[in-house]
This record gives sequence, C-alpha cells and structure tokens, in this order.
Amino acid sequence: NMLQLVLKHNLNFLGFGICEGTLTCSTCHLILEKEVFQKLGPISEEELDILDLTCGVTATSRLACQLC
Ligand code: FES
Repeated sequence: NMLQLVLKHNLNFLGFGICEGTLTCSTCHLILEKEVFQKLGPISEEELDILDLTCGVTATSRLACQLC
C-alpha cells in the first residue's frame, strides 16, 4: 500500500505513517483528485472513524495506509 511505498523509499514526510497502518494516527491523510478517489475501493468503517477525527478532511480524503 502507499504507506509501505513511502516507508520503503525513505521519503521524508515528517511523522507520516507513525502508527504503521493500525488506524490510530491519521498522519497518512491524503486528499485525492476526484478521478483517483473514484477508482479506489470502499472505505471501511474503521477508516471513516479516523477520518471523522482528522483535520482538513474533504470528500476525497483517504488514509494512505488503507490504499492498495
Ligand atoms: Fe496511521 Fe494510516 S498510518 S492511520
């Protein structure tokens, strides 16, 4: 998933993915283009719960650690 991609390549996003995909941090929040968002699978209840607590959420927000 995107979290693993960022970690594998040591990309420098401060704090990105700090919970390592356990859906407890939301530091992997992405705002996607509508076309990209529409191609993704459904959002789980757990991801929605974290997004509800995340600042700056939009209609096309997702958590990178949940994207394959
Ligand atoms: Fe923490 Fe995605 S890495 S919620």
